[in-house]
Amino acid sequence: MIRRFTFGNPIPTEAVVLNIEKRKAVPPIDESIAVMDGMAEIKRTVNGFIMKMRDEDIVYGLGENVRGINKRGWVYESNNSDEPKHEETRKSLYGSHNFIVIAGEKPSENYGLFIDTPGKVRFDIGYSKYDELKIEVIPADGDSEDYTSELNLDLYIIEEDTVLKTVKSFRGLVGKSYIAPKWAFGYGQSRWSYMSSDEVREVVKKHRDNHIPLDSLYLDIDYMDDFMDFTTNPDTFADFKELVEDMRKEHIHLVPIIDAGVKAKEGYKVYDEGVQNGYFCKDENGEDFLVGVWPGKCVLPDMLNDEARAWFGNWYKVLLDLGIDGFWNDMNEPALFYSEKRLKKVFDEIGEYKNKNLDVNTFFEFSELAGSIANNPEDYKSFYHNYKGQKIRHDKVHNLFGYYMTRSASEAFKRLVPDKNILMYSRSSYIGMHRYAGIWQGDNRAFWSHLLMNIQMMPSLNMCGFLYTGADLGGFGDDTTSDLMIRWLSFGIFTPLMRNHSARGTRRQEVYQFDSKSMDMMSGIISLRYRLIPYLYDAYTKACEQDEMMFRPLGMDYPSDKDARRVEDQLMIGDAIMVSPVYTQNATGRSVYIPENMTMLRFKGAELVEETSLTKGHTFIDMPLGEVCIFVREGKELKLADAGAEYVEE
Ligand code: GLC
Repeated sequence: MIRRFTFGNPIPTEAVVLNIEKRKAVPPIDESIAVMDGMAEIKRTVNGFIMKMRDEDIVYGLGENVRGINKRGWVYESNNSDEPKHEETRKSLYGSHNFIVIAGEKPSENYGLFIDTPGKVRFDIGYSKYDELKIEVIPADGDSEDYTSELNLDLYIIEEDTVLKTVKSFRGLVGKSYIAPKWAFGYGQSRWSYMSSDEVREVVKKHRDNHIPLDSLYLDIDYMDDFMDFTTNPDTFADFKELVEDMRKEHIHLVPIIDAGVKAKEGYKVYDEGVQNGYFCKDENGEDFLVGVWPGKCVLPDMLNDEARAWFGNWYKVLLDLGIDGFWNDMNEPALFYSEKRLKKVFDEIGEYKNKNLDVNTFFEFSELAGSIANNPEDYKSFYHNYKGQKIRHDKVHNLFGYYMTRSASEAFKRLVPDKNILMYSRSSYIGMHRYAGIWQGDNRAFWSHLLMNIQMMPSLNMCGFLYTGADLGGFGDDTTSDLMIRWLSFGIFTPLMRNHSARGTRRQEVYQFDSKSMDMMSGIISLRYRLIPYLYDAYTKACEQDEMMFRPLGMDYPSDKDARRVEDQLMIGDAIMVSPVYTQNATGRSVYIPENMTMLRFKGAELVEETSLTKGHTFIDMPLGEVCIFVREGKELKLADAGAEYVEE
């Protein structure tokens, strides 16, 4: 059952596809909104909702976020952010996914909440008070403590008799997930950046020479001419079309990046057309709002304006015509290095510190001033959209920008190449975007804790409809190590997006860059991925079509099993298997909880070397580097492809 309460006049987000009738009257402040069967009561507060949590309750959800599968004990904020640090103390990452399920000890004691609003929402899940879940909508204008009594949002309360059914019901509400092409389940190699077509050819050749399977190679910002979207570098990528064709013969898909900021440069057609038609976001005086991103001064296409969105989407044709069939949309929170106005202000103010003896106070003021330039909240309050015919300040719809940018591409693909299934994923997102594309999990770092974060984020993203997803394997920022790379690949072989990506300036982490022993292990693990693709793609498409989760915590599949409910580092994948990845350095095995009798399949690289029956309970399993253990449920079968594939057969 889904109940909908509409407070005030919510800004439409187009997250939801079902038209659920609104409840006629919404309760006043301090009154109860709903009482679930034998469960908690949801009360309205001045600026949101409040409910009690019992000790045993688990809170699942919130999609892309830091911390565990059970979200209790922290405060999360929906505020799409360009977040390269990824620290545990972050409240927001790149996406806003305002769906949670509170799961009691009895399978039937659960309910889901979806807060549909494009502005900031704060989920205090037992952070301020251990047993209290507080949801607050942060007003767009003014300071975050200054709440108004006006709530403008849709609250959906979803009740079914298990968590999985609650999720399924929610997914029915928000519509079917995007299905990526099968080749996008192949291994992808990326780097910021491969600097020329020669380098691209060389990277591919090294994979093929070493029999490291590969299906896609990613083009980061340097394939462009001066970082301008929909251009190619005339010197370093002079033979772009031929390159795409040659790669296709090698069964390699080239996947270029597209950035949200459009270089403000006269004579650049995308800029000129956008200016002529008024398609860029405006400042309060109606002038194009200038921001800094990769190419320096840029403008932001008004992705929320239907006409501008269709126009921006049409530009993907330039690359589609060159034979490209996959894209990743980036910097679409949108990320702002600076706004022209802010930069000027900071330069003026910083001068005042020049001759000062910088002490404990002034030094920090000075460094904070410099640090305040990028992604400054004031800048997000300084430009406007034309959304459904209305002028609306950006911060009020902030969390929709990445969604609508990606939608622009996806809608264009349907018009331009209706018979093709184009790979599309985005960095920033809001629920609803899952119908158009997947996401990658952003700029993580070469930390063991970020491998765990990748594991824990899979189910929460699946709950919110994002099934085509994965993290930068090996870690994007900082220098990886061969064992981290091996362990991360050992988990990455299960994630739909399996891409090795790293930042400029970090250690090279293509598999062939490591010593030969490590390379052989990595290559063997990637080969195992190809043996798993029939199972994984099947589980994935089935989950998309049936509004289900491909990756689930054990507590969802075994809700009456107390031990299963506690597990935070093992996952069920599809209907047949469970995985228990190693995510600590120098561990040669780990404790595993077996929630029902299972068969353990041990792989050394792609080769099956052991099959052991395990009975329900706790056990310790040796998992040396280079070996992967997969646990198969009783009565189920893991269908494997033959070993030896170096690309996905289409
Ligand atoms: C952003 C992206 C990253 C990319 C880089 C350069 O940080 O998240 O994946 O490599 O920009 O384009």
